[in-house]
Amino acid sequence: MKPAACHPVLADLKAIVGEAHVLTEGDLSAFEVDWRKRFRGTALAVVRPGTTLEVAAVMRACAAHGVALVPQGGNTGLVNGSTPDQSGTQILLNLGRMNRVREIDDANLTMTVEAGCVLQAVQSAAAQNNLLFPLSLGAEGSCTIGGNLATNAGGTQVLRYGNARDLCLGLEVVMASGEIWSGLSGLRKDNTGYDLRDLFIGSEGTLGIITAATLKLYPQPSAVMTAMATCESLERCIKLLQLAQARAGSALTGFEVMNETSLELVRKVFPQLRHPLSPSPWTVLLELSDAENEEHARALFERLLEQALERELVTDAAVAQTLQQSHDMWHLRESITMASADAGASVKHDIALPVSRIPAFCAQTDAAVAQAFPELRLLNFGHLGDGNLHYNLQLNDEVDAADFMRVRESALNDLIYSAVMEHGGSISAEHGVGTQKREQLALRKSPVALKLMQAIKDALDPANLLNPGRVLASRNGMEGH
Ligand code: FAD
Ligand code: MLT
Ligand code: ZN
Repeated sequence: MKPAACHPVLADLKAIVGEAHVLTEGDLSAFEVDWRKRFRGTALAVVRPGTTLEVAAVMRACAAHGVALVPQGGNTGLVNGSTPDQSGTQILLNLGRMNRVREIDDANLTMTVEAGCVLQAVQSAAAQNNLLFPLSLGAEGSCTIGGNLATNAGGTQVLRYGNARDLCLGLEVVMASGEIWSGLSGLRKDNTGYDLRDLFIGSEGTLGIITAATLKLYPQPSAVMTAMATCESLERCIKLLQLAQARAGSALTGFEVMNETSLELVRKVFPQLRHPLSPSPWTVLLELSDAENEEHARALFERLLEQALERELVTDAAVAQTLQQSHDMWHLRESITMASADAGASVKHDIALPVSRIPAFCAQTDAAVAQAFPELRLLNFGHLGDGNLHYNLQLNDEVDAADFMRVRESALNDLIYSAVMEHGGSISAEHGVGTQKREQLALRKSPVALKLMQAIKDALDPANLLNPGRVLASRNGMEGH
């Protein structure tokens, strides 16, 4: 039993959600440890509500006792936002039981789902109705739509469909006061004052608890085709992107890059995976979604890649001939994060840059990192189509990870984030801030922007009970980790 298991709030919480859904004993590591296993928290209890009314009652009970609360979906976040701190005083509110699809309106092209719906289940529910919910990311088998919206997740289809924010029309949110804001609108136009929905999207559980969302759906494309190509340089990858955009327009739905170190790691950790092309400094994964038919998409792809070969933008290319081959290509790309986690510790940088500045940023930063941190390997991969690189540095076996993180990590982050700012970029493209980038955010965001953010936090959560210490530092000593 946890030391604080007799805290008076627990009896209230048990009365609200039922004893079985207030967990205080046994192995709670699936909830208390983050996906990367960098942060181990201790919750006062893990609470698993089943309805929005229960969430509101839990919030009111916590507020009455002055107990802070950390909302959690699938716990796949990468910036330490979804696990409690080590104080043993925070309630971990896991939304996993709230996983109903409330409504699909195919004429309006919308669906309303509860926050705990796993992303893959949302995609499947849309597909069963011959419709598409395009948000797609490597963690889609475990992350939830509530977490996706709370982090404004990106993923591999942003180029065509935008990020989670662009795919959401309405929200239902439990406020820090315990009131419910019912904003589940399926409207594509609504200019009635401030946009409250956009305030909660990307707020990482610090402004309210998302309990349901109305999402945009699209017609299913008639054909989706995947190809891979190898390039000698990042400049050529970008020229290939420009050519693909010029030839395919909005049919280009994915454009991912992987440097050779990333794929080498995938080869090492997952030797069973098939690689259609030989190793090269850069490999690009392209996806086309076509409204006509498969022949049309294939012809478009083949013409595009022939031109790219003629112009020497690519050294080799392969178009998937079957659905299996297409899955295999995506599997390679999506295995990088797992391979990196399996191979040891890494320092992640989820950065956004104008696509045009990426070659200059990489030339400058690759050289500076190689000189100052010769012990690190650069895994540079990501969503090049929308200017989002995962500029990750892998520690090799000889480096003591704990030592590195304590002594050298912040100098590495400073070097990279200074270059990001110099090139007009952002220190978080899609993963969010959590506690991991909180100090860097305070340094890099304008004082006016920070002041406005703090004013919004103070207005919506005056007692600082919602995910304290995430995104912004706490003013009342609750620091996250
Ligand atoms: P959690 O990790 O549980 O929570 C994330 C944050 O949201 C926390 O701050 C939490 O407090 C808050 N939160 C969760 N639910 C709610 C709610 N209902 N109301 C209010 N706040 C809430 N991210 C990308 O953007 N693009 C990618 O391509 C991508 N690929 C990934 C691949 C892998 C293998 C992994 C492990 C992660 C990847 N991620 C990616 C990161 C992660 O999957 C996303 O951030 C995802 O949106 C988190 O969803 P979740 O349900 O797991 O949220
Ligand atoms: C991805 O795109 O695979 C994840 O967002 C990246 C990561 O692990 O940094
Ligand atoms: Zn990503």
